[in-house]
Amino acid sequence: MPKAEVERRVQDLLGKMTLEEKLGQLQQLDGSAAGDHSPELLELARKGRLGSTLNVRGAKRVNELQRAALQSRLKIPVLFAFDVIHGYRTIFPIPLGEAAAWDPAGAERTAAIAAAEAAAAGVRWTFAPMVDIARDPRWGRVAEGAGEDVHLGSVLAAARVRGFQGADPSAPDKVLACAKHWVGYGAAEGGRDYNTTDISEERLRGVYLPPFKAAVDAGVETFMSAFNDLNGVPSSANRRTLTGILRGEWGFDGLVVSDYTSVAELVNHGYAADGGDAARKALSAGVDMEMVSRLYNEHGKTLASAEVDEAVRRVLRVKLRAGIFERPFADEKAETVLLSAPFRDEARLSAARSMVLLENRGVLPFSKDMESLAVLGALADSRADLLGSWTGDGRAQDAATIREALREALPKTRLTDSLDDAAAAVVVVGETFDVSGEAASRSDIGLPSGQLELVRRAHESGKPYAVVLITGRPLAVPWLAENARALLLAWQPGTEGARAVADILLGDAVPGGKLPASFPRSVGQVPVYYAHKNSGRPYDAASKYTTKYLDLPNTPLYPFGYGLSYSSFELSGLAASDAAVSVDVKNTGARAGDEVVQVYVRGPAGGALTRPVRELQGFQRVTLAPGEKRRLDFALRPDAPGPWQVFVGTSSVGGLTGSFVHK
Ligand code: BGC
Repeated sequence: MPKAEVERRVQDLLGKMTLEEKLGQLQQLDGSAAGDHSPELLELARKGRLGSTLNVRGAKRVNELQRAALQSRLKIPVLFAFDVIHGYRTIFPIPLGEAAAWDPAGAERTAAIAAAEAAAAGVRWTFAPMVDIARDPRWGRVAEGAGEDVHLGSVLAAARVRGFQGADPSAPDKVLACAKHWVGYGAAEGGRDYNTTDISEERLRGVYLPPFKAAVDAGVETFMSAFNDLNGVPSSANRRTLTGILRGEWGFDGLVVSDYTSVAELVNHGYAADGGDAARKALSAGVDMEMVSRLYNEHGKTLASAEVDEAVRRVLRVKLRAGIFERPFADEKAETVLLSAPFRDEARLSAARSMVLLENRGVLPFSKDMESLAVLGALADSRADLLGSWTGDGRAQDAATIREALREALPKTRLTDSLDDAAAAVVVVGETFDVSGEAASRSDIGLPSGQLELVRRAHESGKPYAVVLITGRPLAVPWLAENARALLLAWQPGTEGARAVADILLGDAVPGGKLPASFPRSVGQVPVYYAHKNSGRPYDAASKYTTKYLDLPNTPLYPFGYGLSYSSFELSGLAASDAAVSVDVKNTGARAGDEVVQVYVRGPAGGALTRPVRELQGFQRVTLAPGEKRRLDFALRPDAPGPWQVFVGTSSVGGLTGSFVHK
């Protein structure tokens, strides 16, 4: 719909609305109870006092509530929201895992499939992508984002927005996207979920804002205001970020929804004296729609009417752009697309591409002619743990276990659950699905107890074995790093994840993922990230008065950008000139495989602010046949003349070096 037409219709509706009807548009309620709608929800819809729901999905349920809304005086449809985070029914790897694929086109495809499935089930709005930079793996929600890096996070934020919304979010297979959690939520002190954040202007602008800006530039229609206290002003009442930066500086004209009861929580923060104060402060800061708590409605008469009108305008504008006036109902026959074969194929591919080979001491890939194989470990027979947190309407029974997937792939091999009578072993260890994600922070990020003992037994047997690590966060696993014969990081790989694990273990797929977040040696190193500042006394292990620990090196266990292949690659011929870098990459091994070529820069000294020792500015994942060589070009974004140092490598450590000046 043309912009002018949208604004005309918004103005027209606004002119007809009573205060109650306006406040109704600002209310989002949770309809999660399965089965029938509560009589209250239906009643509110009929009166035009329900703007949106979360968790109501399934074409029949959606349509029933929508019919009630269309009986209201002004017939404004309800907007149906749901957390479609890494798939609706076909579950893809958790977002952190998908980030490890370094494959924005792949992330766009999986978001598009998630949108198509969700839309078929009547959902019109997803609360994704989560674009919070996270540098503390104790925080369970590290699983939901793209990891520690500003550039990778920004590229994936944009790709996911495009995947969900497409060129036009009103298309029947698209949904509205929501950039969350605005802002700084990932910097929770101590990694404890919901905790206070204190972020300087420099770090806010340099680290936390850019992925949101990338989402805005990609056309994201909605934002969610976060739970965290940001520099003394909770994010859900933070006028400077919600109105000053988002609307003022960036020109965003979509809608902002609060996080779940985050308006009411302003009282707990001590920022609002009572419910009325909370409603006034959130609305006036720029939160348009209130999720679950009902303070806008309860205190509607005390709200500034111009602010109410502006919030309603944004809600209606987004509803019009979402096409729900033209097409309010879900197609009750469309759900047949769920879990269709091409979607499952994409899930298997994206899972294989997300996996990171951390160690391989001559063990992988396993031969398919093995006579016997032991499949061991706490997670070898799990389905739900492969799906991870936020599984939409995904079902554990849709997924194979890793044992089942290996049995499918190895029809002639005898699979056992005991090491004694097996020639080799796969040991599946890591975290269960419920210890990462929301409200799932941990102070100890090692392997859960007992699991290491099992790996050690496999190790002591002297037989070849591979450890498969299932996890929603970076883990501190120094023993595995030092000893494991092979270590494959599989994340929480989704519905087809077990088959993807088998593909990689048996060499039908070649691992090519790279870490989107540093793995610490110990929780005491947290936060550890590659784009740190140099400090006045840079790390020198041999010199006492430098920035370091006495008992651990400063380097992580595995650096950002790291990951092995079954093949090997060589970079050469780096050329760098004003903002353009090119390099040759050659597959020097005996198998076809993928390499992710990464370009980092270090900006010039002497500016107004210090800069990180390295910052990622470009990457490309390429597939090369044995012996194949390709020249890759990268365009950089220098913000000063320089001189700029350039590092081109296959992780954030080492690589070819060059420099350029920017004219
Ligand atoms: C989470 C959001 C989520 C919302 C709705 C909140 O607890 O922080 O990320 O979108 O619930 O389910």
